[in-house]
Amino acid sequence: MPILNVKFPDQWPGWSIKECNLAGVAHSDMEKLSKYGGEQDIVSVSVDPRAITDYYSDSPVFRGTLSRRHPMSKAPTLIMKFAMREDFIEDLAQEASMYAGPLKTLQGTTIPESYGLYVGTLDDGQCVACLLLECWGDVIRKPFSQLPMQTRVRILERLGEIHKQGFLHGDFAERNVLQKNGDIRLIDFDQVVPDHHCNCDMDFRPGEPLPDQKNFGCRHLWEVCRNEMRIWSEYSFPRLVGERYLTLLRIRDEKTGKIKNTNNQSKRPTFVLDNAYPVS
Ligand SMILES: Nc1ncnc2c1ncn2[C@@H]1O[C@H](COP(=O)(O)OP(=O)(O)O)[C@@H](O)[C@H]1O
Ligand SMILES: [Mg+2]
Ligand SMILES: [Zn+2]
Repeated sequence: MPILNVKFPDQWPGWSIKECNLAGVAHSDMEKLSKYGGEQDIVSVSVDPRAITDYYSDSPVFRGTLSRRHPMSKAPTLIMKFAMREDFIEDLAQEASMYAGPLKTLQGTTIPESYGLYVGTLDDGQCVACLLLECWGDVIRKPFSQLPMQTRVRILERLGEIHKQGFLHGDFAERNVLQKNGDIRLIDFDQVVPDHHCNCDMDFRPGEPLPDQKNFGCRHLWEVCRNEMRIWSEYSFPRLVGERYLTLLRIRDEKTGKIKNTNNQSKRPTFVLDNAYPVS
């Protein structure tokens, strides 16, 4: 049974766990790491003290590196997604089975490589699980609609790959989209919705007029393209300020700060546009 040996940093106030050994579950993919060194069936990872999320949370995410690797090897930086509570362990196991099962063929292109799920108990008896992934740069730090169009389309293509496997992502947002050297990976599959039959041909046609939802082949992708990504020309500036379009926007009252929808044109001078959000 493969073992994941995790060494935690000493410099975290309030953190008392120095090390733990977790056992790989059935579909562990640890052998993918063996080429970078270490012993067979045991991988040692040192956790980077700069944790990505709060280390004291019940589902912390850490960055780490192989402790015993060939000096010359370009070993990948690793991500350890932990579940420190039993109900979170179930979710993490579900996510791991997505990586190992229906999304396996997308590893390394649409989603990060997975090196398996590991479970065990800490010294205090606490059950933990850890999903070991390839680190893929950093999350998207801007709203999708402010990214270069080429990047938006690349992200849509990745999302389309998930749809083609029969799943809706379930939590599609900037924080679950990673970018490294311009290349994109999607993460966070604990809320996926199965049984999606996608008929979209993934021909997104950025800059063109809003296509008919019925002909697009997937209502979900159509909505992402329109609302989050804003790839179609209805959002171009000249139309945005057009009289007809103003009535379709959420408008913020300057005095109260409240967002309201209005068709009342006479009140318009006291309102400012709220970042051109479409009325849902
Ligand atoms: N493979 C990865 N590469 C780089 N960063 C990652 C990776 N997986 C997770 N992260 C970072 O950790 C954060 C939380 O991970 P995520 O899987 O989205 O967990 P949660 O279910 O807590 O949202 C992400 O927003 C991202 O910053
Ligand atoms: Mg997330
Ligand atoms: Zn779809």
